[in-house]
Amino acid sequence: MAELTRERWTSRTTFLFAAIGSAIGLGNIWRFPYLAYDNGGGAFLVAWIIGLLALGIPWLLMEFGMGRMFQRGAPGVFASIGKKWEWLGWWAVFVAFLIVTYYTVIIAWSLRYAISSVTMAWGTGEEGAAGTADFFFGDILQLSGGPGELGGIVWLTLGMLALVWIVLFFIMYKGANVIGRVAVFVVTIPWIILVALLVRGLTLPGAVDGLNFYLSPDWSALLTGDIWFAALSQIAFTLSVGMAGMYAYGSFIAKKADVNNNAFITGFANNATSFFAGFAVFSTLGFLASALNVPVPEVAASGLGLAFITYPAGISMMPAGGAFIGVLFFLCLVFLGLGSAFFLAHGGVSAPLRDKFGGGLTKVTALVCLAAFLVGIVFTTQGGLYWLDMIDRAVAFYGLLITGALSCIVIGWFWKPKLLRDHVNETSDFKIGVWWEWIIKLVLPVGIIFVLIYGGFMVDIPEAYEGYQIGPLNGSHVVWIVLVVTLILSFVLGRLKTRKEGGE
Ligand code: PHE
Repeated sequence: MAELTRERWTSRTTFLFAAIGSAIGLGNIWRFPYLAYDNGGGAFLVAWIIGLLALGIPWLLMEFGMGRMFQRGAPGVFASIGKKWEWLGWWAVFVAFLIVTYYTVIIAWSLRYAISSVTMAWGTGEEGAAGTADFFFGDILQLSGGPGELGGIVWLTLGMLALVWIVLFFIMYKGANVIGRVAVFVVTIPWIILVALLVRGLTLPGAVDGLNFYLSPDWSALLTGDIWFAALSQIAFTLSVGMAGMYAYGSFIAKKADVNNNAFITGFANNATSFFAGFAVFSTLGFLASALNVPVPEVAASGLGLAFITYPAGISMMPAGGAFIGVLFFLCLVFLGLGSAFFLAHGGVSAPLRDKFGGGLTKVTALVCLAAFLVGIVFTTQGGLYWLDMIDRAVAFYGLLITGALSCIVIGWFWKPKLLRDHVNETSDFKIGVWWEWIIKLVLPVGIIFVLIYGGFMVDIPEAYEGYQIGPLNGSHVVWIVLVVTLILSFVLGRLKTRKEGGE
């Protein structure tokens, strides 16, 4: 029986590290600090903590708890609630799959940067961000003119991508056991590196100015929709919920283990990492601004631009130790990325596939790695960045939020969340009350729908996403097509026979 042979975490600690490792990722470094700076500094922290407590942790608890209760990944959980909901789990699986196809490409770029840091291949000195932008778009990406122009494959990136998948395969093919052990490293190494980056940052001139920008509070921001959009969308993304994996990670928890506490610890550890990373990032941005003699807002950046353009510019101007700091910074990204990548590929994709279709761990893992690698090749082409951007919008924004809102609605209204509450409370020190059910039923769906409409549909429906144009289609069309196609495929998978129905 699946229950007896199911993968298990070897201890509570390994589970916690695996869960924290999946939550902390690139977003903690390149998304959170900028969002905080851009949305009222210290005031943002208030909205973000409220978001964590009111939405993030209850959501995480739901995914862990449902996984443990039904001993299945996302599709199995929804099939257990009612066969007609199974597709919803598969939709989240597609979200996870697509995310990991490009997340690993970003890890591949980071590896290339870790190597380039040794010689600071992007040049040194006064060129500042102009030189590093050329390096990123020209040397690393060899970027084409638009998404309609794929151009050739960038072989160095493809090679690194292959390496990333080989490493991931060896982490995953023995299941939760090895994953749990590796997870300890993908959490502790980035923490150690962040401390080193912070120490270096703080010892540079201008660091304090950077920190002032990061946290100086603008309380009036709390009255705007923007800050709540930023805080809630970041909470959903940063906890790695809504992408199937946390159900499976929850399903590997021993029957007796505490669920509630683990959800709280995972949420707080993740947010603490973001908060801390903000100091490392903004101290360096403060230094870069002072070295270039410009105000901090001129260098403040997020996303790929922060990691691959602005931060390298900062490194290149450091009086000493820049190369070393560069290697550390990019290795930090690599480790952060890996923890999220094996979470997505294993918990998000392989575990659900095995729940349904059976198949050996090694074989299924190899197939998932191969399939994701092949899809990922698109992102290693010269036009890959544009596609990465569109797919990211489709799945890591819409996909995760839509499946998240629907999951809460199905669990809250078409099933009995009280069953889950009783289930998790039975083995947890800290009991959750009926308030939690109302969060699932009402607060979460409303919060998520606000985010979807405010920062999503209201932006992407009137205008083409990023102004992209591919033949007759524009960027927003691509986003909708990805969503519709994955939804249809999810229905198909949901209707296929399970191994029990079909026999082994
Ligand atoms: N939570 C991770 C981060 O903040 C991102 C992530 C997204 C991880 C999607 C897995 C899946 O970077």
